Formats: sequence, C-alpha cells, structure tokens
Amino acid sequence: MCGIVGFTGSQKAAPLLLDGLKKLEYRGYDSAGIATLGEDGIHMEKAAGKIKNLDGKIQGGETLPGLSGVGHTRWATHGAPTDVNAHPHLSNDGKFALVHNGIVENYVALREELMAKGFQFKSETDTEVVVNLLELYYDGDMKDAVLKTVARLEGAYALGVLCREERGRVITARQAAPIILGVGKGENYFASDVTALVAHTKDVIYLDDGEIADLTPDGITIYDTSGKVLEKTVERVTWDVAAAEKGGYEHFMLKEIMEQPAALRSTIEPRIQNGEIVLDQFSLTDADLKKINKIMITACGSAFYAGSVGKYVIEELCRIPVEADLASELRYRNPLVDEHTLLVVVSQSGETADTIAAMKECKARGARVLAIVNVVGSTIARLADDVIYTWAGPEIAVATTKGYTTQVAVMDMLAVYMARRLGRLEDAVYHQMVEELLRLPELVQRSIEINPALQSLAEKYHSHNDIFFIGRNLDYAACLEGSLKLKEISYLHSEAYAAGELKHGTIALIERDRPVIALACCEVLLDKMLSNIQEVKARGAEVLAVVLEGEEKIVHEADDVILIPKTHPLLNSVAEVVPLQLFAYYMAKSNGCDIDKPKNLAKSVTVE
Ligand code: M6R
Repeated sequence: MCGIVGFTGSQKAAPLLLDGLKKLEYRGYDSAGIATLGEDGIHMEKAAGKIKNLDGKIQGGETLPGLSGVGHTRWATHGAPTDVNAHPHLSNDGKFALVHNGIVENYVALREELMAKGFQFKSETDTEVVVNLLELYYDGDMKDAVLKTVARLEGAYALGVLCREERGRVITARQAAPIILGVGKGENYFASDVTALVAHTKDVIYLDDGEIADLTPDGITIYDTSGKVLEKTVERVTWDVAAAEKGGYEHFMLKEIMEQPAALRSTIEPRIQNGEIVLDQFSLTDADLKKINKIMITACGSAFYAGSVGKYVIEELCRIPVEADLASELRYRNPLVDEHTLLVVVSQSGETADTIAAMKECKARGARVLAIVNVVGSTIARLADDVIYTWAGPEIAVATTKGYTTQVAVMDMLAVYMARRLGRLEDAVYHQMVEELLRLPELVQRSIEINPALQSLAEKYHSHNDIFFIGRNLDYAACLEGSLKLKEISYLHSEAYAAGELKHGTIALIERDRPVIALACCEVLLDKMLSNIQEVKARGAEVLAVVLEGEEKIVHEADDVILIPKTHPLLNSVAEVVPLQLFAYYMAKSNGCDIDKPKNLAKSVTVE
C-alpha cells in the first residue's frame, strides 16, 4: 500500500527520495510524487502510474533542488489515481507539503469546517484536509502545528511534513500505519519500511502509534501527542541491501521461491537444539498452557491459509479445539474469547490492518496473543505478548512464497512443541517429527528438482480460464494457497474446494477439458480422493494430480502429475505448496502478467 519516505541532510534530497520510493514500489501503488525544499521554496512533482513516469519528469531527481524533502507512492483509496490526487499535497498558502498513508475517517466533517473558513480543495483525497489543518494551526513552529493537527484526526495515518518556513526540518507522525526512522550521520530519514532505509543506514527507530518525530540533519526528537519528549531505543537492522535485490533472477517471486530452503533453514535450525524444539519466545508456563481451552488462529490471505494448515496440525497433535478465522471477519463477530484462549496471529508484514484490528479485539477480551511475524519491529510484533519470527528475510514480490512456507513451518513446530509440553506426544513420534522438521529445507529443494516440467505444464494449461483445486484435510489447506497464488499473479479464475464438497454444487461447473488440480498427499484419504478424481474425470475434466513420490494409485488416473517428496503425514504442507507456487509463476509468465506487482494488489494491506 502507500509508501512514505522523508530525508534531511547535506545531500540533494530528490534522488535519494526517488531511490527510496523505488524500494517501496513492491508495496503496490498507482501514482507517485516528491516535494523538496529549495532556497526559493517548495518544489514538487507528481505523476500517475509507475515511478518511471515521475522519474522522467524530474530527471532522476535532478530538477528538484533542496536538501530535505518527502516522497510518496499512493495506492488510491479516496479518488482515482491521477496526477491531482497523487501526493504530496500543498496547503492553500503553499507553506506545507504533505504525504499521507492511511485513511482519515472524519475528513468530510473537517473538509466542511475548513471550507467554511475559506479553504479550497483541488483533489478528491482525504489528505488535503490534513495539509490545510497544518496551515490553519501554523504559528511559527511546524511541530506545534503537527501536534494540533493530529489531535483532530480520526482513523489511520502516517504523515510526512515539509514546511517552506523551516529549512532542514521534516516531521513525521504515526497512528496505525508504520513509520521507521533511519538514523544517519549528519542526515536522517524516515520511511514506511526498512527496505527504503538499509542502503543508507541500518540504525533505526520504530515509531509507535501516537508518536511524532522531528528530524533535522543533526538529530531526531520524538514526542508523544501531548508534546512530551520521549526516549526511544536505536535498533540495528539485520537485513542487507542484497537481500532486497533480484540477484540475477527475472523476478523477485522466482528468487523468493528459490530462497525457500535457506529461509526454512534459518527459521527452523536455530530452534532445534540437541533434538529438542526450543521456543524461547513462547513464554507460557506448563500451567498456563494447561489452562488454554481454545486456540484461535487469525490472519488474512495466504497467512490465513498458513493458519488453516496450523488448525489441522495443532488440533490433531495437541487435542485442543482450534478455530481459524479470517481477521476481517473475526473482528466483527463478537468472538467467544477469554483468558483461556490462545490467539495465534500470523502475518508476514506485521502491518495488516484487519489482522491488527482482530488482534486488538481479542486481546481486549483477555486472550493471550502469540504472533508469527516476519518483519522485526512491526506493529503486530510489538503488540503481541510473544513473537516467533519467521526468518525469511525481506519478501518483495506481492505474492508471498517464502513468507508463507516459513509460517507453515513455524505452525508445524509450534504444534509439535505444544503437544510435547502438554504430554500428548509419544517420545518416539516427537523425535521422528523433530527430525522431519529439520528435513523440510531439503524436501523443498527436492520438490523443485523432481518437477522439471512445471513450465511446460503451465504452457499446456495457461489458456484455460477456470481452474479448480480440490483436496481434503491438509491438502485442502494447500489448495486454498495454490489457488490464491494462481489467481493473484496470473489473473486466471480459480477455485479451491474441499474435494468431498464438490458433489454438493460445484461439480455442475466441471465439463470437458476443465483443468482440475487434485492434491492427494493425505495418505489416509487417498481412496476418497481417488473417487473424487474419478467423479470429475467422468465429466471430462483434465486432471493434474499432486501426489507423494512412489504413490501409484492416483498417478494412473491423472493426465499430468506433480510429485511431492514424502515426510511425516502432518508435515507435508510445506513441500507440497512449492511446485504450486512455481506452476502459478509460470502460468503468469505465459500470460505475460506483471508477476511481482500484480494489478490492484498491495504487498502490505494497511487499510481495512
Ligand atoms: O503481511 P500479511 O501476511 O499480514 O499479509 C496478508 C495477506 O495480505 C497476504 O498474505 C496476501 O494474501 C498475499 N498477497 C498473498 O500472496
């Protein structure tokens, strides 16, 4: 979603801001803009469409003078993606330039109030009310104007403010939208995420909700909303620049698929010591754990599908009821949650608005919150009682791959770990599962190597418009993720169905040559899957079966086959999804889609 960058120092600001915006491109956007403060006032340029349009207008930043500035990539919410609606926005008197992420919920009332005072509005955005409030409240100190302005705002915002009267000063403020400060030498930065900062500094400060940061080249002062100065810790980022670059791959998505063995190794290996799973970050005592009578898993999109895998595995091993809920639904359904509920929140970015809202709702009702998150210092990580990080490294492609598989691996580990602590797993089974967890990186590598024909399969199937995924139990959870991957990057219509449910309606859509991807890796349900495959074949479907290596029964019924290396039956989900990711990737490539930045999508969905 929208991205913000800000800079003040002794170098020319615009090229740095432009570079920062390029690093934030992956978040999803449809227009971009930059404002800088030169000797003669504010200079600004904006452009609808890709950053290259802005880049062309400002010649790499050369045409915008000044040593401080703010930049923005906008993902349209209020008003179409046009040059006029793009950020920054200027106040009526031209003193302020503002970039804004989030949604100001009371903007209509504020707009009317400002219009009654004579302010005029050029755009359809909610942001223009904020920049004019800054003008209204400015009395010689931009920090005071920001404090007074944010006190009037309802909703979510991250702001980047530049004032014509105050050279060398940029201000940022945060409420429910991320901002990270980059601490440099003689220069300082802010941005929506660390990928825009790591090329310049690895020393960062995570701004919390209700905080305002005042940046000059020589220092950063942070205030709360009452204007009190706060002391914050400078933290060191471990990601490097190379991790956020393509490294010779055609797309970030392909690079990230191939990085999965390494990402899984980083996530799993440090947590297995002398044959035991060690989750230092899990602070529940045995007594606390025994009091848990319900586990709820909440997340959005792929993270929810990782949670759906977790539901099967945790319930099976721990014998505690597990519910998996979409965060956007959970929040509004008056959930039965209390202090005996363990809420597991899953998020790659740690910034998904729906997930944060659901988490806050359950926390307020007494739930203990354990978060599985990839981005260190993100909002979800900071709000949770305990955090287990997935060490996947930066994920740039909008379609998650290594983010998802590391989430599933943590779910699997958590299930085995809790079952052991609850005394519900025999020693021998526990040790076997720990061994198999350690093999997951190798199994993922193998699932890539034993399926060299994925690209030609994609060439065979890419022109079909409706593609069905069917499976049972853990295979069904993998279907959900396989189908989402295909939809979001290839724009093909696809549905995931629990295979046993087909005959209750959906089978009406199965006709001659309709591709059905049948996931059949749950060994105990193979005969049932075989019947479901025969049902669709009898209606003319073309079946691409996903089966465990060495499993012949299904292979004979299928038109094409994807092989998955065998492991413990509860741990199949990680290796099983990887060929589906590659299949989706090649389908999208065959259809000429913009794989890393699919249309209409954002990497980090920070609005509800
Ligand atoms: O950052 P999060 O894991 O919270 O994101 C949740 C979803 O928005 C995300 O998984 C989305 O569905 C991906 N585009 C799927 O590839």
